[in-house]
Amino acid sequence: MRTPILAANWKMHKTLSEAVAFVEAFLPLVEGAEGVDVVLAPPASALDRVGQGLVGSSVKLAAQNVHPEEKGAFTGELSPGMLADLGCAYAIVGHSERRHLFGESDEFVARKAAALLEQDIRPIVCVGETLDEREAERTFEVIETQLTGSLEPVPAERATEVVVAYEPVWAIGTGRTATPELAQEVHAFIRERLAKRFGTDAASIRIQYGGSVKPDNVYDLMAQPDIDGALVGGASLEPESFSRIVRFERPEESA
Ligand code: 13P
Repeated sequence: MRTPILAANWKMHKTLSEAVAFVEAFLPLVEGAEGVDVVLAPPASALDRVGQGLVGSSVKLAAQNVHPEEKGAFTGELSPGMLADLGCAYAIVGHSERRHLFGESDEFVARKAAALLEQDIRPIVCVGETLDEREAERTFEVIETQLTGSLEPVPAERATEVVVAYEPVWAIGTGRTATPELAQEVHAFIRERLAKRFGTDAASIRIQYGGSVKPDNVYDLMAQPDIDGALVGGASLEPESFSRIVRFERPEESA
């Protein structure tokens, strides 16, 4: 079955000392959390120190981005090999902020995903529609195009190492979460498309939801059959809040 994966995307937040303090406070809070994969994606400046802090724990390190080439004249970029060197087990690719603010195409995202797999780093491939696209009833068409394009060079035998993150752009950082039913509808569609591409392995591919996930709404999201985890921005910045998301208990049962 699919192991739930709860990932913190800190985006451009936290100095080195803040990142280290988070790890020190967070690890005791998630000790004993079994049967889940927990992932932290700090900014590149903190990858090394956060990675050191996670040694000996089951929490995994992720990068927020990568360049598909192994080396060369790409000022400001980090290669998959460099991320492997830093101990990254995962890397986020195709986040909507990278697609929309930095103009990244499906083709570029796809090259990143394939290059990561060559370094045995699992790509977290993000897809999601904008509000305009949803209102124009183009959600499924947009998701299909992004998914097909972003996974194009992924070899079928590596499919189960990929994580897909469905992040509706209108729900990111807005406090406006997709309802569990609405998210499930898109997740089911994504799994059906993955099955067309990868066959029965699609049943083993994890699909995370992202967009205003909080301790109070994560339980209902995770209860949906095709929601296998969460990719969390704002609510992952505090150890207590993210540790509650990792446990995804019914709100009334959590402290
Ligand atoms: P928020 O949880 O802040 O809405 O961000 C979601 C996100 O973009 C995670 O990658």
